[in-house]
Amino acid sequence: MKLSTYVVASAAAGATHASVVKRAIDDATILNYALTLEHLEATFYATGLKNFTQADFVNAGYADPFYANLQKVASDEAEHVTFLTTALQGAGAPATAACTYAFPVTDVNTFIATANILEGVGVSAYLGAAASIANKDYLTAAGSILTVEARHSSYLRAVAGEVPFAQPFDDPLDFNEVYTLASGFILSCPSSNPSLPVSAFPSLTVTSSGTISNGSTINLATSSTAKLPTTVYAAFVTVTGPVWATVTASSGGYTVTIPSGISGQSYLVLTSSNNTVSDDNIVAGPAIVEIGAKNGRLSTGCSGSSSSSSSSIPTPSSTPAGTGVMPSRTSSVSPQFTGGASFLQISVSLVGAAAAATVMLLA
Ligand SMILES: *[C@@H]1O[C@H](CO)[C@@H](O)[C@H](O)[C@H]1NC(C)=O
Ligand SMILES: *[C@@H]1O[C@H](CO)[C@@H](O)[C@H](O)[C@H]1NC(C)=O
Repeated sequence: MKLSTYVVASAAAGATHASVVKRAIDDATILNYALTLEHLEATFYATGLKNFTQADFVNAGYADPFYANLQKVASDEAEHVTFLTTALQGAGAPATAACTYAFPVTDVNTFIATANILEGVGVSAYLGAAASIANKDYLTAAGSILTVEARHSSYLRAVAGEVPFAQPFDDPLDFNEVYTLASGFILSCPSSNPSLPVSAFPSLTVTSSGTISNGSTINLATSSTAKLPTTVYAAFVTVTGPVWATVTASSGGYTVTIPSGISGQSYLVLTSSNNTVSDDNIVAGPAIVEIGAKNGRLSTGCSGSSSSSSSSIPTPSSTPAGTGVMPSRTSSVSPQFTGGASFLQISVSLVGAAAAATVMLLA
């Protein structure tokens, strides 16, 4: 296998057309970006299967064959890690290693809710990255992972009582949007990991509870360290472009009315512009917003109980705030980024903790 080479703007050209000339993200970087997410998922399932037994799931109402299916999901994610690692090594590129994670899991229900979020974000991440992959073989390989992540997502959504396929089109997320969500689960990474040109926006989390529907009003909070402009706009990221929502500042955060046409696991960003959504104008988020009534949990077996599952969406345990090199959503063909930083520092402030840890991430 051969990785497409960096399309690197020369320093001279960059100096001459600093605002125009950009370099595309190369395939090795995209594979390492995907591998970063797969490590997160694989570790999540491996740890979850250590934390909870088959009996724990059955007792919580997730009767067999749920546990066997969960083991299959875990093994799929482990295989994805192996596949991407092997592909990178085969191409002579360094492969990123697993990080240290924190998951908001306290019981079987929060485990399944977190699994749902990770699978949904995985789908959106592969979808958003697809257009940037140069090598067609890699595109097909990434597509074959994407469809499996989508199957995991549908199954887990059904099991959790959510509509399995809530909308006709999935939402593509850009590199930094995904990284914002993923970094909430990442505590630290090996310093030997290859650098990724990604950074996290200030976190945005839904603070209201209960079912969220179109027309509902929800409350959101940003990380306490985020400095937002006086006027912000709110948009859901969709494949056909932003769907704008009415937003007002409220005490300690923002209130947003959910527009029509959005359903399922959806992604809300706050922006400084009401024209486009791009890395240049996202000021916080995405927040994950699950929109739509619950179906009632899918029976996972003949002895499935009807005990209700938690309806709350767990939030990452840390609020990332990042700066650095950002790919641009507005590029028509491939996400591009400006600037020449080779690594970035992400400040991670832990929710509920006074201490803020600065993590040299992916350096
Ligand atoms: C596993 O259990 C540990 C200890 O309670 C917890 O910190 C961690 O978040 C759990 N992880 C998963 C994926 O269940
Ligand atoms: C978009 O923002 C501009 C400038 O802040 C404002 O004049 C305009 O009314 C806004 N449009 C909408 C649809 O909110």
